[in-house]
Amino acid sequence: MDYRDICLRVVNIAREAGTYIQNERKQISSEDVLTKGIHDFVTYVDKTSEQMIIQKLERLLPHSEFLAEESGQKTGNNDLLWIIDPLDGTTNFIHQLPLFTVSIALYENQKPVAGVIYEPNLDECFYAWHKGGAFLNEKPIRVSETANLNNSLLATGFPYYDYQHLDAFMEFLKFTIKETRGLRRLGSAALDMAWVACGRFEAFYEYGLRPWDVAAGICIIEEAGGKTSDFHNGPNYLYGKEIIASNGLVHNELFEKIQEYFFYKKN
Ligand code: IPD
Ligand code: CA
Ligand code: CA
Repeated sequence: MDYRDICLRVVNIAREAGTYIQNERKQISSEDVLTKGIHDFVTYVDKTSEQMIIQKLERLLPHSEFLAEESGQKTGNNDLLWIIDPLDGTTNFIHQLPLFTVSIALYENQKPVAGVIYEPNLDECFYAWHKGGAFLNEKPIRVSETANLNNSLLATGFPYYDYQHLDAFMEFLKFTIKETRGLRRLGSAALDMAWVACGRFEAFYEYGLRPWDVAAGICIIEEAGGKTSDFHNGPNYLYGKEIIASNGLVHNELFEKIQEYFFYKKN
């Protein structure tokens, strides 16, 4: 399969969905917001974006499988799986904050082969395909070369429904405030990962995530020379609901600190 060709077609599909979302932003109102779960929202824009994306991907690769945030799982009859977040950063979107993304990934036999993350407000499209490198609007990107946490800018997402590690998370915030250049919370996990891939952040960590939040970012970070793991430095980061994504150089230092604060330290 020509992963490059597929990836570039998905770039167009993500851009079209992003343009649709951006246009709807002008007219979205509080009456359009439905609550799915604790602090978890959805609008007709999320759902329409997803339907637009799925229709186009079905034409691109007939019979492939889908795992999409708003419509769930749809089985096909081959080993190709699309993982889609049609609007990552819905809370930003409904509050008129200009940072949200469309995130689309293709997995073949459980391995990432293409990933696209489009942020329409900055008109930035991040993408990568297997063994093809990673790009931002056609320019190659790499992770940063910073090798210690002290000189690193980190990103995270605040727990909003799963509070099992909340105390540890808060203690760990103190560590990042004192021992790094700072911590940002953008409100789109896909964007956090794209910004690690292009070197704006050294690393990102979050727990309570879903596969569609991270699937495309995993592919792009890998191709940009970075590293992803779960909180135990293992491989269960697509479905395991927790991720550390970094430039590779600060990975061990961050993983060891997360281990200490989340699993061994008495808070
Ligand atoms: C959310 C965003 C947010 C992250 C949450 C996700 P949604 O996705 O990625 O940054 O902190 O964990 O659920 O609901 O806006 O698609
Ligand atoms: Ca999401
Ligand atoms: Ca979403």
